[in-house]
Amino acid sequence: MEQKWWQDKIAYQIYPKSFRDSNGDGIGDIPGIIEKLDYLKSLGIGILWISPVYVSPCADQGYDIADYFQIDPMFGTMEDMERLLKEAEKRDIKILMDLVVNHCSDEHEWFRKACADPEGEYGKYFYFARKENGKLPCNWRSYFGGPVWEPVSGTDWYYLHVFHKKQPDLNWENPKLREEIYRMMNWWLDKGLGGFRVDAIINIKKPLPFRDYPADRDDGLCDMSQVLQHASGIGEFLGEMRDRILIPHDAFFVGEVFNEKEEEIRDFMGDNGYFSSIFDFSQTVEGKSPKGWYANRIPSPDDYKRCCFRSQRKAERVGFYSNVIENHDEPRGVSYYLPPAGRHCKGKKLLAAEYFLLQGIPFIYQGQELGMENMVYASIEEIDDVSSKAEYAECIHVGMSPEEAIKVVNQYTRDNTRTPFQWDDTANAGFTTGIPWLPVNPNYLEINAARQEQDPDSVLQFYRKLSQLRRDPELRDTFVYGRTEPFGEEEQGIMAYFRKGKEEDVLVAGNFTEGSREIQLSSLQEKQKELLLSNDDVKMEGNTLTLTPFQVVVLKITK
Ligand code: GLC
Ligand code: CA
Repeated sequence: MEQKWWQDKIAYQIYPKSFRDSNGDGIGDIPGIIEKLDYLKSLGIGILWISPVYVSPCADQGYDIADYFQIDPMFGTMEDMERLLKEAEKRDIKILMDLVVNHCSDEHEWFRKACADPEGEYGKYFYFARKENGKLPCNWRSYFGGPVWEPVSGTDWYYLHVFHKKQPDLNWENPKLREEIYRMMNWWLDKGLGGFRVDAIINIKKPLPFRDYPADRDDGLCDMSQVLQHASGIGEFLGEMRDRILIPHDAFFVGEVFNEKEEEIRDFMGDNGYFSSIFDFSQTVEGKSPKGWYANRIPSPDDYKRCCFRSQRKAERVGFYSNVIENHDEPRGVSYYLPPAGRHCKGKKLLAAEYFLLQGIPFIYQGQELGMENMVYASIEEIDDVSSKAEYAECIHVGMSPEEAIKVVNQYTRDNTRTPFQWDDTANAGFTTGIPWLPVNPNYLEINAARQEQDPDSVLQFYRKLSQLRRDPELRDTFVYGRTEPFGEEEQGIMAYFRKGKEEDVLVAGNFTEGSREIQLSSLQEKQKELLLSNDDVKMEGNTLTLTPFQVVVLKITK
């Protein structure tokens, strides 16, 4: 594989609204991020992805952009953004912005002009249609519920939105639109961005002409993930974007790509891939149902292991996945992948080591490094997230009581990871001096950064150790380029793997169960073993390594 500047980096995602509020209006902002750059540096971060800060009416928390060239005043000014880029550069941190170009906001001037004249120049930037014989062009269901077609008021036209109705889809088939997007991307990259996290990108290629697909609920509609199986030819757009933007800027693009097909992976993230990397969402989609959240199954630790190893095999000698346990769309990883008995400091470190040391780029989502947990919501009125409202309605629709429905929503609501960052144990967790836009998780008194700074055994300090390990010049090649080889893959409740290096191998072995477990290392009998990291005392007698409940051990094995 070709060597690139980003391959040995550790990345961090900031959800700006909830990271750090510098001016007391209850909303996190860019000056707040600048304030915390040294903290990020202390975690060894080399790439910083910032969720959208562009001008937005916030129907979907900034993922509905009304002006791609301006910073929303709630987050600061363009000068703040330029200062952030400069300050990050001083610390050898590259900034990624979110590239949201499957859709824009219905308040974008393109869409305003388009609605005024759906058959004119700007109408071609979107998808407009009229009913034929009383029927809409297709029966697709938007991700946030309801049909993808929305009437343009005062006309007989409809426009397409696969997300919220305030997020009209952009028409990538139109070369003029693509040029506008490339111009915007170049403009930002010329300001010194390191690249983009590319949002919802798999949706830009629709299966055309529009037609119905088999309905999967009693609303007569079909889930978008099914619809997209019928689309082909996205490579024309993504290849163009790579050649025009990614390559000339030597940038880092990480794609939000779901359900990529095995044979496509080389196209998406190989040496000449459309993206530098794509997220590994195999464990995210595991157990998810097109019926809705209520029908989902939560993955067990063995499911989690199977997903990780499957992806590691797919990526072998192809490229770099970006590895995550959570993000702003998912529940907290520790509240989801760990069995309830393991949701403590020790278990959090286990999950951290297991995912962080896999081949690929580790991404840390804000607060993950503290072991921040899901929030508990008593009723739907407490929830902000648009997708949660649609899912709650679906629960009620299939006959659940409000109590049952809120339980389901609690498990998955995107607000879980959007609660403010827990900096310390002062009011509002030190996030703001005002009223936070979303309530702080009351567990901030125990789980906060200030406290974990003082505690050598905290989750935060464990993340710092993982980060140091991965950046250790002697181990770097093994962690960045070494193959992943599962070890004792069939052992239930155990997740163990090697990273195979030139000079040495690293063994990561963890126990996801409540009982002690023994691991036989007789195949490594002759070899020298050195302890690199663990979340407990390590007991090794002869060839037997005993793992206490939720223990993880990282060993260096000299060849
Ligand atoms: C992506 C974002 C999500 C957003 C959606 C629509 O999935 O991560 O937050 O709602 O795209 O832009
Ligand atoms: Ca603010």
